[in-house]
This record gives sequence, structure tokens and C-alpha cells, in this order.
Amino acid sequence: MSITEEPAAKNPYDPNEIDIEEILGVTATDVDELVHTCKNNADTLFTWDYTKGSKPALDRLYEKAKKSQWNGQTDLDWSIDVDPEAVVAADAAANPFSMMSGNIDLSDTVFRNWGEDEWMKVALESQNWMLSQFMHGEQGALVCTAKIVETVPWIDAKYYAATQVMDEARHVEVFSQYLNDKLGGGYPINAHLRMLLDDIVEHSDWDMTYLGMQIMVEGLALAAFGFMRPMTTEPLLKELLRYVMSDEARHVAFGVLSLKDHYQDLNQAEIRERQEFAFEAALRMRNRLLQQEVWERVGVDPRDAVPLVLRSEERILFQQMLFAKIVPNCKKLGLLDAGDGWLRERFGELGVIQFEDWADTEEEMSVFELAQGDITAPA
Ligand SMILES: [Fe+2]
Ligand SMILES: [Fe+2]
Repeated sequence: MSITEEPAAKNPYDPNEIDIEEILGVTATDVDELVHTCKNNADTLFTWDYTKGSKPALDRLYEKAKKSQWNGQTDLDWSIDVDPEAVVAADAAANPFSMMSGNIDLSDTVFRNWGEDEWMKVALESQNWMLSQFMHGEQGALVCTAKIVETVPWIDAKYYAATQVMDEARHVEVFSQYLNDKLGGGYPINAHLRMLLDDIVEHSDWDMTYLGMQIMVEGLALAAFGFMRPMTTEPLLKELLRYVMSDEARHVAFGVLSLKDHYQDLNQAEIRERQEFAFEAALRMRNRLLQQEVWERVGVDPRDAVPLVLRSEERILFQQMLFAKIVPNCKKLGLLDAGDGWLRERFGELGVIQFEDWADTEEEMSVFELAQGDITAPA
């Protein structure tokens, strides 16, 4: 299965014309299943060229990664007591885009009689849902980077990817711990996210794993973390996101560095395939992750709630911000303007081309780096 075989939205560029029925019709059917299987269709490559530093930028990244290994158990203060309701109330007050602040007229909707308690419940569930999907996405990254260790032909990239496997294990660990210990448990993976991760993992070309995971999913995650971190007043989550982001910036840079050279050697048809893969992944993340399970849990039909959410200022701003890293990184890779500029045109139609000159992640990586003293010495 490839990403392009997914049925497209009626007009994927217009949030008002997203085919909500079709999206909500796809639900997880195997919520009790503990193990999910998908096919790894790629060749495993050995290399006998062990020359360290043949790819100097990847070598520098590898050395940086070795010095940046924090420990989620000792570097985060798990003794912090989290009161989710107080946090959500404080965060909503600080967030002018929240539906709770009343920027949408709800008088003719299922929400007309809703008060603070109901919105509080939605906000709590919504944060829980999002952190849960981050956790599942982190496991996707864990699996993808393990795959990259096997499939990438260069020793410097295998070395670097190995450090990322460790990073992603830590990310799954801390999100899972936060959800279980501080929020009382999380949500199963959203069916659309699972299908996207499946498509990325199942692709047979090694560079598609990078493009799907390192550039698109991690680029979006880095933007989402960057949006959430200044908004939250909860100190443990703030710190957790700071540590995770310091790794994620390196991961996106790894994708940019690895693919930049590789793409110079591809022909027009191969480039177009990559442009389409990137765009479809972006559209799916933007249009299909609608928190439908949250509405089900609070007893509202998602068909009533989702169209309203899609029109909320918060959602529209958030959806645009998700592209703040993806667009400049695609530009850096040469994907935006390659060939006839197909991807530039698509991002223009989506209304996110304005991010093209924002810092790409290779440039801004140092912004996210941990300071000296952030990593405690092993006991
Ligand atoms: Fe991660
Ligand atoms: Fe990552």
C-alpha cells in the first residue's frame, strides 16, 4: 500500500470541504490488540566502507548526539505533582484561541448548554489524546530509525541512526510515564495515524523512511511541541518537551543532511514521487487527525463537533503552525522547487508557503540544544 492510494479529500486544500464522513468512518477496530504487525519490505544493507567521517556533517551530528544522551529517570523531576484540571484551566486562560474562551458562536449547536465543567473535560481529554498520539508517533520513530540503521548505505548514517534509536526509546518512555503516572492513562493510537505510520514503515526505499518520518512526522512533531511548550504552565511537561525537542531538532537535521545529497542524483520521476509522498503525508496529518475519540469519550457525536472545531481560530492557527518546520525543510532538500515546482504550488494552495523562508532545522538546531548541566552524570 502506498500513501497515494489513500482516497483524497473532496478538496484537500479547503478545511471546509474535508470529507468528514469518510475520515470518521475509519476507526480502530483492534483496540484490544497488544501487538500490531506491518511488513518491512526493504533490503538490509551492510557496508564494508568503515571510514568514519566520509559524510562529515553526519559525523559531527553523531558526535553531538553521543554527548546529548539524557536520562528521563534522573534528568526530569517526576516528584512534581500534576493536577491536570488546574493545569488545563490555567492553560485555557492563557490561550486566546481556545474554544473555551468563546470565539465561536455555539448558540445553535450541541454545545449551546455547555458550561465550564464540560469544556474542562474536553480540554483534559484533548490534551491526553494529543500526548497519547505523540507517544505512539514516538514509537513510530523508534521503529523507523531501527529500520534506517539497517537500510541506509553509509556508515556515518548508521552510526547516527543508532543514537536516534536510543533517543526515541527515551521519548516513548517519558511520554508513556507522563500519561500513566500523571494523567491516569492514555488513548489508543488513532487509526489514521496508525495507517500513516504503516505506510512509512512499509515503503521499500530507504530514503522514504527518512522523508516520511524525519522530515514530515518529526517536522510536524517539532512544530507541535514548539506550540505546546510555551502554552503549558505545567513544569514537568514543559521540561519533558524541552528535553525531547533538543533531540528532535537533531533528528530532523539528520533527515535534511542525509536526503539533500541523495536527491541531487534522482531523476524527475523519482523526485515527483517524493514530492507526492511528502504532500500526501502532510495532508493526512493536517486533515485526518481530528480527535474523534475525544468526542466519543465525552459523549458527543464527532459529526456534530468536528465541523465546528475545523472552523475554530485555534485549530486553523495550529494547523498552519504545523507546517512551520516542514516547508523550510522541504525547501532545503530542494523538493519545493524541483522539476516544475509541483510542491511549491501545493503548499501555496494549502496556504502554508509563507513558511518557506523560516529557519530550516539544520540552521536552527543549536536553538534547541540542552545547556551544560542539564544532563546529570550517571550515578
Ligand atoms: Fe522522538
Ligand atoms: Fe525523533
